[in-house]
Amino acid sequence: MMPNRKPLSLYIHVPFCKAKCTYCDFYSIVGREDSIPVYLKAILNEIKHKAQILDLSGHYLDTVFFGGGTPNLLDPEDLSKMVEMLLNLASPGGDMEIGMEINPGEATLEYLKAYKSLGINRISIGMQSFQPHLLTFMSRIHNAEKSFSTFEDVRNAGFQNVSGDLIFAVPGQTRKEWVGDLQRLVSLQPEHISTYSLTVEEGTALHRWVEAGHVKMLEETVDNGLYDWGRDYLEASGYPNYEVSNHAKPGFECRHNLNYWTGVDYLGFGPAAHSYFQGRRAWNIKNLDAYTTELMNSGTGGAGYETITDSMARNEMILTRLRLRRGLNMEEFAKFFDENLLQTKKGILEKWAGKLALVDGYLVITRNGWALTDEISSDLMS
Ligand SMILES: C[S@@+](CC[C@H](N)C(=O)[O-])C[C@H]1O[C@@H](n2cnc3c(N)ncnc32)[C@H](O)[C@@H]1O
Ligand code: SF4
Repeated sequence: MMPNRKPLSLYIHVPFCKAKCTYCDFYSIVGREDSIPVYLKAILNEIKHKAQILDLSGHYLDTVFFGGGTPNLLDPEDLSKMVEMLLNLASPGGDMEIGMEINPGEATLEYLKAYKSLGINRISIGMQSFQPHLLTFMSRIHNAEKSFSTFEDVRNAGFQNVSGDLIFAVPGQTRKEWVGDLQRLVSLQPEHISTYSLTVEEGTALHRWVEAGHVKMLEETVDNGLYDWGRDYLEASGYPNYEVSNHAKPGFECRHNLNYWTGVDYLGFGPAAHSYFQGRRAWNIKNLDAYTTELMNSGTGGAGYETITDSMARNEMILTRLRLRRGLNMEEFAKFFDENLLQTKKGILEKWAGKLALVDGYLVITRNGWALTDEISSDLMS
């Protein structure tokens, strides 16, 4: 915290992957590692350009996140130039969180130690599952042993804030397998666990298979059963959820994500990256070549922007805060939007009685409503 200054988060999108997973619609490209040098040049230009045009004197750097794609495909030397420039963008906060996503089996111990020495202090490992048939279904190129050995390497490199990501509700997955996956991850004792329900995104191989009838997604009820069981199990194991899909030992909640969900300003760098800065959302070109060309020509890789209207801000606050365990602060909502939700949406609160509750001035979704979080939120939105 820095008095009189606002927190700022930075996101750097690294779009390279060794293989494309069947379900993933994040912008990532395969077999293009030869373009890393031009990508790096473009990113450094983008940082320089943003430093010139934005006034960041009222902000302090709170979190930085290298996401993807696969950030571990960048060697530490390349990353060090980026980190140095990023940390010069604004005054660094006292205990910055600098996170990075890695894929199992892809970062050597030597690389991990080097990342640590650059100041990276949080690692998130995309384990996804420990079941060979589910990893194959998702086209993941690692196996369970790689997840375990990478976790060990991450610890040996000195990281004390580590997350494991798992996916559930994968077609063919049994409840026993999901229970086993969670138990194995808990036995490693990471500080943080993300559990994502597999979603079918347009443009992915999974979407084509489902459309063609080759693959049937798990029934909603089975999926919800897996979610509720997982959330209870993780809570009992010392990992209470602080957001629908995220669980952490107390004090290890991902600050970068919490910043996204609570309206903190953030700047995105790299193809397809989004920014949210002083009431405006902007997004970069979602194509590496077009992004690098445009950046070299004009200094910006932006594709578009929108000004956040009151109605958009209202909906976003409802959507993101109701996904948080702490819920939606009624006083903050009333202050921002001059609206007492308890009165304007009285009928909706009655409709969802038992699933939506007022606890210490916060509107929260109860255990009975977890599986209906999206439906409840959309009823409260305008
Ligand atoms: C986009 S990946 C980037 C990090 C890294 N490459 C990895 O695979 O873990 C971030 C997280 O989003 C998850 N993800 C991507 N698409 C998803 C989908 N359709 N449903 C559920 N989780 C998804 C990934 O499995 C991963 O845990
Ligand atoms: S899930 Fe991760 S590894 Fe797989 S394609 Fe997406 S970004 Fe790449």
